[in-house]
Amino acid sequence: MSAIDVPLQKNRFGQTRRKDRWWIEPLFVFLGYLIFTVYANYALLANNYYELPGTQYLSPMYSPLLFRYAPGWWPAILPYSAAALILWAPLGFRITCYYYRGAYYKAVWLDPPSCTVGEPRKSYWGERSFPLILQNVHRYFLYLAIVFIFILSYDAWRGLWFDGPNGPGTQFGIGLGSIILILNPIFLGLYTFGCHSLRHLIGGRKDVISSSAVRQSCYNCVSYLNRRHMKWAWISMFYVGFVDLYIRLCAKGIWHDWRIF
Ligand code: FES
Repeated sequence: MSAIDVPLQKNRFGQTRRKDRWWIEPLFVFLGYLIFTVYANYALLANNYYELPGTQYLSPMYSPLLFRYAPGWWPAILPYSAAALILWAPLGFRITCYYYRGAYYKAVWLDPPSCTVGEPRKSYWGERSFPLILQNVHRYFLYLAIVFIFILSYDAWRGLWFDGPNGPGTQFGIGLGSIILILNPIFLGLYTFGCHSLRHLIGGRKDVISSSAVRQSCYNCVSYLNRRHMKWAWISMFYVGFVDLYIRLCAKGIWHDWRIF
């Protein structure tokens, strides 16, 4: 088995004896987060074009649509967005995700930028003290994230219904947007059901998993997805943005939804 001898030493920020291009991965992670954060903030603050007239398409960034217009209790001095009422749940799930934590600790906080590369701080910000101990709420966000899979699956079903002679949403059909909406909860499911917390809930806390065939099978499925958690984290995140963009551009008349039948 090959081994890499990486010397341990106290480095200045960015200093390392590594010869590989260790900075490429954190750079791409940083750019990925930046692009998604900018777009998500734009979509959130826009508070428009999240539905496509003539269809039942609804942007996942606004689903479930609790209040189309500001409810009476909304403070008048705050700008209103229907997305702000629900986006905290999926965002909280992602921000506290074990994969994302490892990625943004390196790419955004540079703490450290990579293994054996000097970091900008002397102190260690462990997750066993405030504020990072709050990351432990991830296991509770997991329950919310599973609820969202069902909500977005219902939205995918609604995406198969179009305005017809009998009224809005009464005619069955398939448009390109319908397929795009169907793929969304699938990608989110592949990410969510590979969650480390779910893996622990199903089997990680047990000494013997094989005593229950059902538990063993579920554990194997979650473990399979868990090994690809990073991939699904990125695909599902950008896909949510893409679904919003698709509906937004169709609603603006820039793109046209292709109606298959
Ligand atoms: S660890 Fe990534 S979603 Fe739970």
